[in-house]
Amino acid sequence: MTLLLEHASYGHLLPAAHSLLTAHADKTKAHLIATGAAMEALAKKFGGDPATWKVAGMLHDLDWDQLDKDYERHCGEPLEVILKTIEAPQELLGDIRAHYQSKYGAEYPLDTMLRKCLFCVDELTGFIIAVTLVRPSKNIADVEVKSVKKKMKDKGFAAQVDREQIAQCEELLSMPLDDFIALTLEAMKAVAKEIGLSSDVSLRE
Ligand SMILES: [Fe+2]
Repeated sequence: MTLLLEHASYGHLLPAAHSLLTAHADKTKAHLIATGAAMEALAKKFGGDPATWKVAGMLHDLDWDQLDKDYERHCGEPLEVILKTIEAPQELLGDIRAHYQSKYGAEYPLDTMLRKCLFCVDELTGFIIAVTLVRPSKNIADVEVKSVKKKMKDKGFAAQVDREQIAQCEELLSMPLDDFIALTLEAMKAVAKEIGLSSDVSLRE
């Protein structure tokens, strides 16, 4: 049985996480809000602490806007510096680094449910945003599980998204892909306005 968390809960950082998003995330903000919402829903499914899981989702790419696509520095010192300003525990940094398995996997393995969920859902929230944005309505309410799956099979669409990583939900979470997409889509629909994917076009840039 996989542990839900390594040891610490850090749900008390939720207000601070919101402030950090306002201060540091612009282009990445919708992805971070979406991932936070999805992680909260996954915590409820798997019995984790919803606030803690949400914080991990909200902050996992907090450094991305300032890195200019420099993957080498992702989850490195710039992120550590920001997290220190809110006195985040080491566990949060570890949980965040674990989503970047190709670089940090040896030090921070996918050994808790929180980490496994974040690893799989990270690519999916980004993909669902891409699927929504190519629709004429740009309204996530119009997106269904089958539309997401169809686009996943289209290798030319959002080619940078690692489909394999999303599909690992079946092995890592024992969750069928359809259910995983449905839960994530539902969670994202609940924050549609915040992520600019609702029928209210005035919220879009
Ligand atoms: Fe991400």
